[in-house]
Amino acid sequence: MDKIVIEGGHPLQGHVTVSGAKNAALPIITACLLTGGWHRLENIPRLRDIETIIRILSQLGVAFEFEQNSLRVNSGQLSGHEAAYELVKTMRASILILGPLLARYGRAKISLPGGCAIGARPVDLHLKALAAMGVDMFLDQGYINARVDRLKGAEIFFDTPTVTGTENIMMAAVLAEGETTLRNAAREPEIQDLASMLRDMGADIEGDGTHTITIRGVKELRPVEHIVIPDRIEAGTFMIAAAMTRGEVHISGCRTDHLSAVIEKLEAAGAEIQTIEGGVTVKGPEIMNSVDVRTMPFPGFPTDLQAQFMAAMCLAEGWSMIRETVFENRFIHVSELERMGADIEINGGQALVRGCEHLLAAPVMATDLRASASLILAGLVAEGGKTEVHRIYHLDRGYEALEKKFAGLGAKIWRQSE
Ligand code: EPZ
Repeated sequence: MDKIVIEGGHPLQGHVTVSGAKNAALPIITACLLTGGWHRLENIPRLRDIETIIRILSQLGVAFEFEQNSLRVNSGQLSGHEAAYELVKTMRASILILGPLLARYGRAKISLPGGCAIGARPVDLHLKALAAMGVDMFLDQGYINARVDRLKGAEIFFDTPTVTGTENIMMAAVLAEGETTLRNAAREPEIQDLASMLRDMGADIEGDGTHTITIRGVKELRPVEHIVIPDRIEAGTFMIAAAMTRGEVHISGCRTDHLSAVIEKLEAAGAEIQTIEGGVTVKGPEIMNSVDVRTMPFPGFPTDLQAQFMAAMCLAEGWSMIRETVFENRFIHVSELERMGADIEINGGQALVRGCEHLLAAPVMATDLRASASLILAGLVAEGGKTEVHRIYHLDRGYEALEKKFAGLGAKIWRQSE
């Protein structure tokens, strides 16, 4: 296993380019199950989660050609419909093969994804919607066995906006008989990116990006070329890092319309932010103001940036209240930040962060993808030696060579084997 070592105290300066969005690439890759022929996907990040979905689909007979960040996919010769527990347990987003497999072949057997560090992560809303579309399902040995002759369009209401739930049912509906309406749908940019690819494939979809999406089933789809949107969570991670290290960083390749909530909160914290075509420049203040944050579904403040923003507020002047409303257990990074001298009090879904003079270097342990990013940010400003972040396989799931990108901005950071 590797660790990342950081010698803090170096303001970030310079220019960095964000990679393609992991959470757009994953459903876009599974959407290739919907038709035979070669798809060409560009701006695919080289990440562990991308490798996992490729391994799962390869076991179903999908052909892949991956060079740099360009991925060619062909589902013409599918030979199976089962996703094994060993792979699914490492990535919950594997559930995203359920909708397209049922749409294309009417059969799927997938291990029920377990929970993870940040919460129970049920998929009941996915299954309820598929049942409404005529799918017969039963649970056996932890596997969902699903079968349908032909999916039927239905009126679906999600009790809560679910990103992968919206994506899964959108992919199920594009080849269904009749019209499907998704109400209380999630509005994340990654859903809009998937919808735009599905439309290019010949699907009839409207309303993506709003709470109501209407899909009219078509007979068949065709393979396409698609460029994945930039990763707004990676971009936000760099923006927060620039602000808390008193740096000045230009982040290119990001969509500022995907980052409005983050820009608003960082400006409130005292950062100077310039949005320019295809990028943003962030200049950090001498001392950050404390800012309250409540995570919400898009376009609210993203839960995937809560841990990173909390790391920044550890050094702000005053107290910040951070409310996590999306997941029930997304404060695991708090105890590790406290080992670095942070002063944080948790009460249910809220964390009161009392700003302090400085954070102290320490060995810490990553527990999930975004928590590991927050510990790296804390290490960038920690004093008194080197911070070591252990178990960074979590980080490699969702960030492409993050330590190299930070080193390119002047951070003293490197990867070392344990
Ligand atoms: C997606 O997860 C992202 N993953 C997550 O990013 C992100 O944190 C999350 O959306 C919220 O934005 C991918 O896109 C691959 P949800 P997802 O369904 O779809 C509850 C990262 O770090 N819910 O929108 O699994 C659920 O428990 C990852 O990149 C149900 O109750 O999240 C949660 O409280 C972490 N039943 C809320 O809805 C369901 O059937 C939102 O979850 C589905 C969800």
